[in-house]
Amino acid sequence: MNKTSIKFLLLLLLLILIVVPGCVRDAAVSTLDTELERTLIRLSDNNTLNDYILPDGSNLAGVPAGIGNPLTEEKVALGKMLFYETALGRDAVHPAQLRTFSCATCHVPEAAFTPGAAQGIADGGVGFGTFGSGRVMDSHYTEDEIDAQGARALSMLGVAYVTNSMWAGRFGSRGINAEVEEVWGVHNPATELNDLGLDGLETQNIQSTIDHRMSTDAYLLDTLGYRRMFNRAFPEFEGEARYGRIAMSFALSAYIRTLLPNEAPWQQWLRGNKEALTESQKNGAKLFFGKAGCYRCHNGPALNGSSFHSVGVNDLADLPGGALKTSINDTRNLGRGDFTRYAGDMFKFKVPQVYNTKDMPFYFHGSSKTDLREVVEYFNAGIPENDRVPAANISDFFHPLNLTDTEVNELTEFLAEGLYDANLSRYVPESVLSGNCFPNNDPQSQADMGCE
Ligand code: HEC
Ligand code: HEC
Repeated sequence: MNKTSIKFLLLLLLLILIVVPGCVRDAAVSTLDTELERTLIRLSDNNTLNDYILPDGSNLAGVPAGIGNPLTEEKVALGKMLFYETALGRDAVHPAQLRTFSCATCHVPEAAFTPGAAQGIADGGVGFGTFGSGRVMDSHYTEDEIDAQGARALSMLGVAYVTNSMWAGRFGSRGINAEVEEVWGVHNPATELNDLGLDGLETQNIQSTIDHRMSTDAYLLDTLGYRRMFNRAFPEFEGEARYGRIAMSFALSAYIRTLLPNEAPWQQWLRGNKEALTESQKNGAKLFFGKAGCYRCHNGPALNGSSFHSVGVNDLADLPGGALKTSINDTRNLGRGDFTRYAGDMFKFKVPQVYNTKDMPFYFHGSSKTDLREVVEYFNAGIPENDRVPAANISDFFHPLNLTDTEVNELTEFLAEGLYDANLSRYVPESVLSGNCFPNNDPQSQADMGCE
């Protein structure tokens, strides 16, 4: 062999070393991608990956709107302020708490729009800690006086895909509630609002400004300048109604409809960037939509569901330290059964979305888990933790999954990283018109957030 042919052989060898492993890797990745795509298409309603793709929130035409509440830039801009505006909190029970809390007190963006603590407290709470973890009851208040609810707050991500809101799905005239019109307003008086014929978010948020002690006044409208924003958002509303509860609800609902985690790697992968997920995240996705059966309940673009199931988790009252204003006998622990009182609905809760769960310090309606892998292990074990839930009410889909340790890791990684939009701050305003510290404005929260 002469020198040239040796050089040629070496070059060939080098080429083989570089190209072949690349091909092998690409081939492996693309088989996995293709398999996953096939599975998704098979499981989709319309035989297309589009069924899982979240719209671009900046193109309002693509975001699901509520009945009677078409999405406009003006409503979203107003809602984006009101959601964080502590000046709205003017119906506090004690003067010390006046204008110190907001919707975001219990729906903290950095905690995936959950409270950061096991149970959120708005009026009657003080402090923020890290993303809501440090909020405690204000000693000026009695337990009866505070605003704390009977379950952990739901996330605001993907709520554009929620037709019937709350864990019990009790708000909203469409969808599953259309079948139970006879119970509207019966066991839960506020659900009479369903008679307005609106969707879940728009209906519920009329009540939520009442429950959370918020309303507009001359100070908010004229001194702070919100009147102009309401005028732009609701030119068709006459007189005081333009600044009233329905207007507030429509603006808040319009804003939260735009909270779409569409920058998550999973969404990028669906849109065609096959490198957005790692191989183990893809394996995790295959488990989610396959062996682990998560897709049976978590589906659609938001990976939530308008169906109700019991997976047998504990209630807030089961927390080691107990919880405020609730007990193991609280009818809210009945889930959808609290709304309908039908035997078949007892202990069943709405299927929540599963994006950005890595940021949630607590999981499930009773905040019974604090670690995402623990949640996956709970589903894998398939053993209910709440012995007050009769076995007959537990979902047939909740049973041992026999996932290996590696599979549990892969599924956890898909949830933690694949379904994680790291840029939710794009949805949070830089400031609100009052200039107040937000989401909370009590002195302890100001100190905790460094905005004194
Ligand atoms: C005191 C804490 C607290 C405050 C303040 C609060 N929320 Fe909530 N939110 C909750 C809890 C708890 C739930 C779940 C309750 C349930 O289903 O029983 C919830 C659920 C929701 C849901 C339902 C989401 C779904 O998927 O069904 C929406 C929408 C919502 N809140 C919007 C708001 C808005 C808008 C405000 C401000 C006007 C607000 N919240 C203020 C605690 C709070
Ligand atoms: C039988 C239907 C069903 C199946 C199957 C199911 N889930 Fe869920 N999932 C739910 C319901 C309902 C809840 C809320 C339960 C509660 O709090 O009472 C939930 C809650 C969750 C939560 C917590 C969300 C939050 O806001 O706290 C995560 C995470 C989750 N599921 C992931 C999964 C994964 C991963 C799988 C597959 C291993 C899975 N789920 C399978 C119905 C289901």
